[in-house]
Amino acid sequence: MTTTPTHFAPSGSLHGAVTVPGDKSISHRSLMLSALAIGRSRIEGLLEGEDVLATAAAMRAMGADILRGEDGIWTVHGVGVCGLMQPAGALDMGNSGTSTRLLMGLVSSHAISCTFTGDASLSHRPMGRVIDPLRLMGADITASPGGTLPAMVRGIVPAVPIEYRLPVASAQVKSAVLLAGLNIAGITRVIEPVPTRDHSERMLKGFGADISVESEADGTRIISITGEVGLQPQDIVVPGDPSSAAFPVVAALIVPGSDVIVRGVGLNPTRAGLFQVLQDMGGDIRFENEREVGGEPVADLHVRHSVLTGITVPPEIAPSMIDEFPILFIAAAFAKGRTHTSGLEELRVKESDRLAVMAAGLAAIGAQVEEAEDGLIIQGTGGETLPGSNQPVASALDHRIAMSFAVAGLHCREGVLIDDMHPVQTSFPQFEPMLRGLAGA
Ligand code: S3P
Repeated sequence: MTTTPTHFAPSGSLHGAVTVPGDKSISHRSLMLSALAIGRSRIEGLLEGEDVLATAAAMRAMGADILRGEDGIWTVHGVGVCGLMQPAGALDMGNSGTSTRLLMGLVSSHAISCTFTGDASLSHRPMGRVIDPLRLMGADITASPGGTLPAMVRGIVPAVPIEYRLPVASAQVKSAVLLAGLNIAGITRVIEPVPTRDHSERMLKGFGADISVESEADGTRIISITGEVGLQPQDIVVPGDPSSAAFPVVAALIVPGSDVIVRGVGLNPTRAGLFQVLQDMGGDIRFENEREVGGEPVADLHVRHSVLTGITVPPEIAPSMIDEFPILFIAAAFAKGRTHTSGLEELRVKESDRLAVMAAGLAAIGAQVEEAEDGLIIQGTGGETLPGSNQPVASALDHRIAMSFAVAGLHCREGVLIDDMHPVQTSFPQFEPMLRGLAGA
């Protein structure tokens, strides 16, 4: 596919109110669990990005009836826990790590075999982290060298319940094991030394699964699910994605004179770390109209331009903002003084190696950046513009890299040219018109 580079020009102040699309993590889970419930579920606010559509296509291929109404509400008639059917062909996961890892879990405890394929980015990402526990549960899995896609999962009935201590802080691995456990007699247990996003636990409970969560004094969480319990269909409202809200929020903080409201943003504590860090840097972010949507805390974020100050980001906060580091690095590049991040090895195995790709792009737009093994150290401008770049900056098939440099372009003298904005379709199809709308461009 040929791609045309896209230019994001320097902008005057940003104004207006925007809404961001539905939460990606919650959207995936709402389709999967609705497809496993018997009866009709309704989903309002589903993210209609390529990643979530890959999950919808896979669940359809395994027997669920999934329709989008003209009003934008999705209806799912599920097949029941244990009812997944053999798909006719390979499941194409596109760019979506969440679809792949969670579905590998689901398939592992069903009597079906599925081949998982993906794009060039996904085909480089490690699947061993889910393959290991799923093999312990009895699934027969053949992966490509290095534990990558394409991979074939032959599920087994009955599979074996396990107790699994997560070797890496990953909500995807936790969820893969819990979803496999849904169709296994007995108790499947995940021990999570470092808490990660808890959407699976919340939603499984909401669908009537037999799941319990205990927290120990040191923060370790123990999640137990008793399988072979039927799920009840639900009406779900998906809150706005904090990971998508991060882009207009940082844009408003860095462009002088800006005053922006981002409406309906999910603020689950396991996801909202970025907003805390930006406030600690001096960002003027107010939470207004706080409420609950679909069992998750939600607020409107009122953001005004602020001269940020660099900080040392405590590594413990990383899991609650794991997808937000690319845009935090952009905020840091315009902050006063040094921002120091560490403990971020996981960023090297996301949609791209986000430490290497961000370091290269930041250097290309004239920022001062140092790349360490586990983080970036950035010396900011103190609110001044950066030079920018008329040579294409690489987005490396990574939506969050593309959106981060688009935001940076608004406060660079030459703007920023980005080689390929297509990856944005995976999580935020309306990103470009949203950003240009705020800039009045
Ligand atoms: C996700 C978990 C995170 C995150 C990803 C979505 C999820 O991945 O980076 O974008 O929906 O469970 P890890 O589990 O690999 O940390």
